[in-house]
Amino acid sequence: MRSLIDIVDFSVEELYDLLHTACDIVENPGRYAEACKGKKLATLFFEPSTRTRLSFEAAMMELGGNVLGFSEASSSSAAKGESMADTAKMISCYADIMAIRHPKEGAPYVAAKAASIPVINAGDGGHCHPTQTLADLLTIYREIGRLDNLVIGCCGDLKYGRTVHSLISAMSRYSNIKVVLISPEELKLPNYVKYEILDKNGMEYVETTSLEEAMPELDVLYMTRIQRERFDSFDEYERLKDSYILTAEKLQTAKPTMRVLHPLPRVNEISVKVDDDPRAAYFRQALNGKYMRMALILKLLKEAQEGVQMPVEENTSVDELFCDNPRCISSCEQELPHVFRCVNPENGIYRCIYCEAKKKKN
Ligand code: NCD
Repeated sequence: MRSLIDIVDFSVEELYDLLHTACDIVENPGRYAEACKGKKLATLFFEPSTRTRLSFEAAMMELGGNVLGFSEASSSSAAKGESMADTAKMISCYADIMAIRHPKEGAPYVAAKAASIPVINAGDGGHCHPTQTLADLLTIYREIGRLDNLVIGCCGDLKYGRTVHSLISAMSRYSNIKVVLISPEELKLPNYVKYEILDKNGMEYVETTSLEEAMPELDVLYMTRIQRERFDSFDEYERLKDSYILTAEKLQTAKPTMRVLHPLPRVNEISVKVDDDPRAAYFRQALNGKYMRMALILKLLKEAQEGVQMPVEENTSVDELFCDNPRCISSCEQELPHVFRCVNPENGIYRCIYCEAKKKKN
């Protein structure tokens, strides 16, 4: 069964097809009003969400389908200790497609392996968030008119901000992209994104702590919230929470064509005074999220009907290496095999299939 777990599950052509479908939905919503009649989307949100869950639900409703689900872990059987795989098998009996948000990294992947319906990753811990990236891509495409030849500044919590990890993965497939990584030292981009995505794809990138210095060269400024819920120490969060605040003054040195994106929710990293600037695209981005989720649901349901399968993982090591990342789904599900994929055969470097934690095999 074809699912969307990581943005790189889709080729560049498939992403263009989704963008074109979404643009067609914007132009001709009536044509799609009954496209999912009789179909059900289950939304399994084990972690809080407003936009993502409601935009999935609105997307399915505007396609003429129905939705069912829950919006907090305490109201699901996970609270009784049910495994992700069992939950996924059970939901497959009741719905045609499911969207999962989970605090443990790799949970949607585990669900996709067990389910007999398509699974959409709606955010797994600090790992990735591919449907937010779909919204980001449509926003850049509609606002700037291209997805190549761009300087993209990612600012804020680059360590735990899963939307940034997925956006960088997606942008690695387009030509002439420069990424400017703007964060405090403590919240720099994780090494797996740096080595496995930026370096491997020969992408140009710089790391800086100064938003002001980066501003003039940017085509896109992707602001993010400091992810309070992923910090081990509250004091550390308090110290870093106001690292960057985008104000109208700071925007003065930006290009007139530059666009400010933010996955939302905003805490106080963008002053509300910026909202009236035509370059502020974040609320339009939230709307684009609905259109892209509509396009995605249509694609996955069609492929499920055609029997398209997920590719089989190759070069894996099963239960030889153990993942010790406490945020990984394998840390809380005893019977889950520890699976690692080889990313660098010469040096014996492996990464956990669920959370990307690194291990070396001798
Ligand atoms: C993001 C998320 O959940 O990771 N929000 C969203 O999906 N709209 C960003 C965030 O929570 O900061």
